[in-house]
Amino acid sequence: MTKLQDKVAVITGGTKGIGLGIASEFVKEGAKVVIGGRNPETGNEGVAELEQLGGQALFVQCDVGDLDSLDNIINKAVEHFGRLDIYVANAGINDPDKTHFLDITPDQYDKIMDINLRGMFFGGQKAAKQMVKQGEGGVLINMSSVNAHLALDSQMVYTTSKGGIQQLTKVQAVALAKYNIKVNALAPGPIGTDLMRRVGSDKQLMNTILSRTPMGRIGTTNECGRLAVFLASPDSDFIFGQSIYNDGGRGFQAFPTPGYKTVTDEEYALLEGLQKEQE
Ligand SMILES: NC(=O)c1ccc[n+]([C@@H]2O[C@H](COP(=O)([O-])OP(=O)(O)OC[C@H]3O[C@@H](n4cnc5c(N)ncnc54)[C@H](O)[C@@H]3O)[C@@H](O)[C@H]2O)c1
Repeated sequence: MTKLQDKVAVITGGTKGIGLGIASEFVKEGAKVVIGGRNPETGNEGVAELEQLGGQALFVQCDVGDLDSLDNIINKAVEHFGRLDIYVANAGINDPDKTHFLDITPDQYDKIMDINLRGMFFGGQKAAKQMVKQGEGGVLINMSSVNAHLALDSQMVYTTSKGGIQQLTKVQAVALAKYNIKVNALAPGPIGTDLMRRVGSDKQLMNTILSRTPMGRIGTTNECGRLAVFLASPDSDFIFGQSIYNDGGRGFQAFPTPGYKTVTDEEYALLEGLQKEQE
């Protein structure tokens, strides 16, 4: 028996990167998935990849900064697959401009907070309302980061949003416990995605990141997916309001690892193709 047999999951930002890694591991475990994103082309490619794995998948256009769009993705999931069991609030953007605190504008702040925190807050609320209506509990997984507790001042608004997510996860867990809705956060360290490409845009910076990652490598989207399967399955049923870090030790290392491994050409090739645009 697979761990998520016939469960219905919505994954925001599920069309690529960590979201698609989660969707892939979910379908391997028997779940039916709805992946949300803004770009239909990327969405359809994501669906094709999930169907190749033998899964049932649906793309719904969704901008988590728009509350009507959040209603729509949940309604479409219920219309298409009949219910909602798991909601993964994964969509997120970072601060590509690396603006100093003294210069950040309200518009820059709102753009990131609307997606990373407000979208997660109300998306979780809407998903939980559907789960309460069904009366059989459910699972919320929030996408956090090591930056929930590392003070990264070049990613000021992003870091603030991830700190907020750690606390949101706890209060949601407390508020929803009586409905048997389990809430936890998945908090990755460096993972090889477009978001990482925007941050680790040169070898020196990547080496700095690796010098503070005791495992000496970046993680994969499927490793995030395996952790999400654990958080979505009954295996984690007594884990409550926690942020679980899959970060190769990046989050707690005090000093650079002596003799740390620097990034190889092959690893760096994975991170090349810096995308300056946030899709
Ligand atoms: N890659 C890392 O190293 C890393 C580390 C820690 C946390 N995270 C978190 O993981 C999550 C996914 O990031 P990723 O690395 O896969 O990045 P990514 O840029 O590859 O993917 C982000 C996804 O979110 C979607 N998205 C962005 N804005 C959206 C919006 N307004 N509405 C709907 N979808 C939107 C994008 O289309 C994309 O599918 C983010 O919340 C990010 O903060 C990533």
